Amino acid sequence: MAVIGIMSALHEELAAVLADMPDEQRVTVAGRDFWVGHWQGHAVVAVLSRIGKVAAATTATVMLERFGVDALVFTGAAGGLGQGVRVGDVVVASGLVQHDMDASPLFLRHEVPLYGRAIFETDAALSVQLADAAQQVLQEADRFLGPDTLTQFELALPQMHRGLIVSGDRFVSTTAESQALREALPDALAVEMEGAAVAQVCFDYGVPFTAVRTISDRADDAAHTDFNRFISEVASRYSRAILSEWLAKRSSA
Ligand code: ADE
Repeated sequence: MAVIGIMSALHEELAAVLADMPDEQRVTVAGRDFWVGHWQGHAVVAVLSRIGKVAAATTATVMLERFGVDALVFTGAAGGLGQGVRVGDVVVASGLVQHDMDASPLFLRHEVPLYGRAIFETDAALSVQLADAAQQVLQEADRFLGPDTLTQFELALPQMHRGLIVSGDRFVSTTAESQALREALPDALAVEMEGAAVAQVCFDYGVPFTAVRTISDRADDAAHTDFNRFISEVASRYSRAILSEWLAKRSSA
């Protein structure tokens, strides 16, 4: 049976996933707790990614080396960069770039040295499957969130976007910085701190990967009203629902 790896950036998300895995066993490697069990009839390993590119790359490497996962999905929150990418929307990655990679003038800006590329594309089939699941969940967002949650957080009807996610070792929280990112990487829909590193590790091992991120802020000066509440009441619920929907439709062969 294929083994699915799930990396969550947030404690609440991992807790939501584990609530659906009745038989999980903890295996500790490199100081990280990997939870091995089943979800929707699939063999699953779930872990907290930790924050930042290096920590996430280590976690991903253990997932691939020790647990031999056949596909890896990353879920978490991100700042919205693209026009029309609003708080409460979901972005599924079709490719990822390290926005803070700059070995110029030796290599082009954003190009990862010796890889000959800046963009690590996600697995097309996996990305489409997760995008379909996200679309399905967002169409019925009220069913997965508490009553009136959308209104309480002043969220518009949530949209799913598929495209470029950029990652770097910085929480982007000023309008000047998000504007600079938009200028440097005009196709970027969202910014976070791990995805592109995990995409590079999966590229090295030839393992299918994609990332699903709920937009928690616009990466600008306007601080989100209550980040932690948003994570537990919106982002974690979307992650659990999207992954569950995806696994329910995926063959477990
Ligand atoms: N994750 C969620 N919001 C983010 C932001 N604004 N910058 C980096 N990572 C994030």
